[in-house]
Amino acid sequence: MLTTNSKDVFFLLSTVFILSQNFLNGHSFKPEPRGGHMATLVNDRIYFFGGSRPIPITSPAWNQTHQYNLSDEVFYLDLSSSFTVNLPPFTDLSAISRMPFGCERGTTVLGYSGVRIFLVGGVQQNMVTFGYNTTNSSLWIYNINSQKWDTNGPGTYGPPLPRRRSTATVIDKNGVIYIFGGRVGVDTGSDVFIMFDDLFTLDTSLFEWSNLSLPNHPPKRNLCTATLMPDGKIIYIGGVTQSFAGGPPTRVNMNEIYIFDTIASAWSQKSALGNIDPRVGHTAILAPDNYTIVIFGGTQGYVLRQSTSYPTFVLLDVKSEPFQYSSPQTSGMAPPPLSYHTATLYQNYMIVVFGNIIFPSIILIIDYYTDNVIYIRDYFHIFIDMPSIRTMID
Ligand SMILES: *[C@@H]1O[C@H](CO)[C@@H](O)[C@H](O)[C@H]1NC(C)=O
Ligand SMILES: *[C@@H]1O[C@H](CO)[C@@H](O)[C@H](O)[C@H]1NC(C)=O
Ligand SMILES: *[C@@H]1O[C@H](CO)[C@@H](O)[C@H](O)[C@H]1NC(C)=O
Repeated sequence: MLTTNSKDVFFLLSTVFILSQNFLNGHSFKPEPRGGHMATLVNDRIYFFGGSRPIPITSPAWNQTHQYNLSDEVFYLDLSSSFTVNLPPFTDLSAISRMPFGCERGTTVLGYSGVRIFLVGGVQQNMVTFGYNTTNSSLWIYNINSQKWDTNGPGTYGPPLPRRRSTATVIDKNGVIYIFGGRVGVDTGSDVFIMFDDLFTLDTSLFEWSNLSLPNHPPKRNLCTATLMPDGKIIYIGGVTQSFAGGPPTRVNMNEIYIFDTIASAWSQKSALGNIDPRVGHTAILAPDNYTIVIFGGTQGYVLRQSTSYPTFVLLDVKSEPFQYSSPQTSGMAPPPLSYHTATLYQNYMIVVFGNIIFPSIILIIDYYTDNVIYIRDYFHIFIDMPSIRTMID
């Protein structure tokens, strides 16, 4: 059970940016702020992997091309007992579970009877030499029981997913991972910045890869979200596209939604009504009602030019025809505008952890990272507590 009473939240509001550096001293593990990390729920734990941490500009290691230190850490947040949001009970597993490389912008999904976490794609950086492309495998497997990493070695069939990152990836109830789009660039083995429009699958029981090339697929897309619905449809939202290899990224209109039906193996398109800024680095999770997609955060800009996409908290009703966006007022303390955070559904809560803080200004070219405070959104409040209007953002 989680405890987030208003006193805690108020306390959080007044202390998070001032005292947090000292706050957890001597208590549980305190991870550094980060963005572009991976998160996966396993029973009552959210496992976190890697991410990108800013190198202080005052550090001798900092230079124009080396502003971030990727993380190879593995740690989890224990949700099995009550805690307050300013004392998140993280446990570090890095000593036994360290990733084989510093990693960001991959995707992790849980499969194989809840015992294996599959890491698909992402940047693989050698933590000592800072060289990229540390391994040739775009699939790494973390075993919850042994707490160790492995590839599947030679026991994999079909054309493996080539190196890439920032894909839109989900696993279905049959253990098939669907990987759409993504990109390569200097950090993923290509001098040219190239986005993709192919849909790969990995059947995690057969360990078989396929490149599904089917008509009516979306144009090339990077950093869009994929949300799996109970009927087997995957809904893709936002991101950026590219008209030619090496060309600039252009933002995808949020009113055009692509859907892949995993049962019929077919693409379709739907329109969604609502005035919603385009975005990358956002999250999109399915609410417990099974028809509302909760979209949070994201930035309009790309590369280092960040500017907040509004509204920052958006619901997409996929039961209505056409789909309908709304942005209800929320109560409690909203996170600051974030991008490259993670959002994980646990019971009725959306648990938002880490991410870049973005500001409504395009002048900023330095990313700021949130501290290790988590933001918890209780769904019931979204729907029944609307009169208590309060966001930090507006
Ligand atoms: C990168 O992070 C590691 C810990 O994960 C630390 O040992 C190392 O000093 C950091 N490097 C830089 C340049 O900040
Ligand atoms: C920046 O730092 C990285 C890592 O230490 C180094 O490999 C690179 O040569 C440096 N670049 C410049 C321009 O100093
Ligand atoms: C996947 O298949 C499509 C259609 O044949 C092709 O255009 C694309 O290059 C393939 N992707 C890879 C990475 O081989």
